[in-house]
Amino acid sequence: MSTFKTIAGWSLAALSLAVTAGVFLSWQPAIAPLDHHDIQYFSHAQIAKGEQLAALGDCAVCHTAPGGARNAGGLAMRIPFGTLYSTNITPDPETGIGSWSYPAFERAMRHGIDRSGRYLYPAFPYTAFTKTRDEDLKALYAYLMSQPPVRHQPPQTDLHFPFNIRPGILAWNWLYLRPGAMADDPGRSAQWNRGAYLSEGLGHCSACHSPRDPLFGERGGRRHLSGGVAEDWSAHALAGGKAPLAWTEQDLLDFLRHGYSPRHGVAAGPMAPVIHEGLAQLPEADLQAIAHYLSSLQPARAAPASADSLNHQAEQRTEPLGSPGARLFSGACMACHAQEKGPTLTGVRPSLALNSNLYADRPDNAIRVILEGIAQPANPELGYMPAFRHSLDDQQIVDLLTFLRQNLAGQAPWKEVKQRVSQIRASLPPG
Ligand code: HEC
Ligand code: HEC
Ligand code: HEC
Repeated sequence: MSTFKTIAGWSLAALSLAVTAGVFLSWQPAIAPLDHHDIQYFSHAQIAKGEQLAALGDCAVCHTAPGGARNAGGLAMRIPFGTLYSTNITPDPETGIGSWSYPAFERAMRHGIDRSGRYLYPAFPYTAFTKTRDEDLKALYAYLMSQPPVRHQPPQTDLHFPFNIRPGILAWNWLYLRPGAMADDPGRSAQWNRGAYLSEGLGHCSACHSPRDPLFGERGGRRHLSGGVAEDWSAHALAGGKAPLAWTEQDLLDFLRHGYSPRHGVAAGPMAPVIHEGLAQLPEADLQAIAHYLSSLQPARAAPASADSLNHQAEQRTEPLGSPGARLFSGACMACHAQEKGPTLTGVRPSLALNSNLYADRPDNAIRVILEGIAQPANPELGYMPAFRHSLDDQQIVDLLTFLRQNLAGQAPWKEVKQRVSQIRASLPPG
C-alpha cells in the first residue's frame, strides 16, 4: 500500500472516530415530561420575584414576536447563516414548556440544552444565565409556569450547513460556557456583589456590551464590557470610559431607571426595551446595586470635564454657523437640540455635545437615529424624535455628521461615512 493510501486510511479512521466520539459526547438524555402542573405549589412571593427576574432577563423582549402573545415565541433573529426563531416559553404542554420539570428548565438555563436533549443556540444567552442561583431560577420557573398557556408553534429555525448541526454547539460550549452559579467576591461589599450578580447573570449586559471573536464568543478579561455590537448598533463600553463625561453612580441610576441621563443621552435602539421592559421594573435597591457595580468599572480620570464646560466648548466651535452641516443642523435639529437651556415642550432635549454616540468609534448609532428617528423610546416621557430618511439625502446626512462630530463633539472625523450612510439606509426595512 502506498504512503498516500496509508495516510488517507488513517485520516479517515481518525475522522470517523472523532465523529463517533463527538456524537457520543454530545448525546444528552431527554428529561421525562410532566403530566400536569400544580401551580398552587408556587407562593405569591416566589411568583412576584420571578416576574422581576424575567424582566431583568429580557425574556419577553426575545420571546415575543411583533404583535404576538407575550412569551409565545416566534421573534425572528436574522444572522449571517440563516434565521433563528425564539421558542414558546409559555406553559402550553405541546408548543411551549408546559411539560418541562424544574430540572429540565434548569438544564436549559445552565447548559443550553432543551428538555429533549437538543443543544440550543447561544443566541439564547445561557452563558450569562448559567450564573443565576438556584432560588432565583426556581422563582423564574414558578413565574413562567403560572402564566397563561398560549398554544402557538413558532416557525422552525433553519440555519445553513454546518450551523444546522446542533451537536456542534458542544464544541462551542466547551470554549465559552462555564456552567454554574456565580459566587460572591468576599473582598467586595454586599451591594457590589449584588450588582455584579444581576448584571453578569440574568441581566446579560455583556451579551451586547462585550466584543465578540470570530466564533461569536464573548471576549473576556480586559475586553469584558469594553463595547460590542447589537442588531447593528454599537453597544458602548461600560468599562473603559469612552464616554465624554465619566459615568457616575447617579448618572447610571438615572439612565437605567428612566432611559435618559442628562449628562450622556438616551437609551435608543436595542437598549430601549432593555430599560422599558426590563430594568425599569426592578426595585430601586437592585438598580442602585447595578449602578454601583458598573461605576466601579469606570477608570479613574485625571480631570473630569464638566457638562457645562463641554457644552460651552461646543458653542464656541459652532460659531459662526457657516458650513452646510451647520445650516442643516440649525434648520432641522436645533428646535429640539439647542445648546442653550430653554423651555421643554415635550420630552427631553439631549445635549448632543455630551452624547456618547458622537464620541463612538463608529458613526452607526448616530446614522440610525437620524435616518429612523426614535419612535419607541425607552420611556414615553422622553418624547419621540422624527425620522429624516425621507427628508435628507446621503450627502446631507454626511454634512450633518461632519458638523456633529467635529464641531459639537470636537472629535477627528469618522472615516468612510458616506459609504456607511448608504449601507445603513439600504438595510432599513421599507417604510
Ligand atoms: C437575546 C434573546 C433571548 C433572551 C433575552 C432570552 N431568550 Fe430564551 N431563547 C432565545 C432563543 C433564540 C431560543 C431558541 C434557541 C434555539 O432554537 O436553539 C431560546 C430558547 C429558550 C428556552 C428553550 C425552550 C425550548 O422550547 O427549547 C428556554 C427555556 C428559554 N429560552 C428561556 C428564557 C428565559 C427564562 C429568558 C429570560 C430569563 C430568556 N429565555 C431570554 C432567545 C432569548
Ligand atoms: C440587546 C443588547 C443590549 C443589552 C442586553 C444591554 N445593552 Fe446597554 N446598550 C445597548 C446599546 C445598543 C446601547 C447604545 C444605545 C444608544 O446609543 O441609544 C446601549 C447603551 C447603554 C448605556 C449607555 C452607554 C453610553 O456611554 O452612552 C448603558 C449605561 C447601558 N447600555 C447599560 C446596560 C446594562 C447595565 C445592561 C445590562 C443590565 C445593558 N446595558 C444591556 C445594547 C444593550
Ligand atoms: C422634534 C424634536 C426633535 C428634532 C427635530 C430632532 N430631535 Fe434628536 N432627539 C429628540 C428627542 C426627544 C430625543 C430623545 C428621544 C428618546 O429617546 O425618546 C432625541 C435624541 C437624539 C439623539 C440621541 C440618541 C441617543 O441614542 O442617545 C441624537 C444623536 C439626535 N437626537 C440627533 C438629532 C439630529 C442630528 C437632528 C436633526 C437632523 C435631530 N436629532 C432632530 C428630538 C428631536
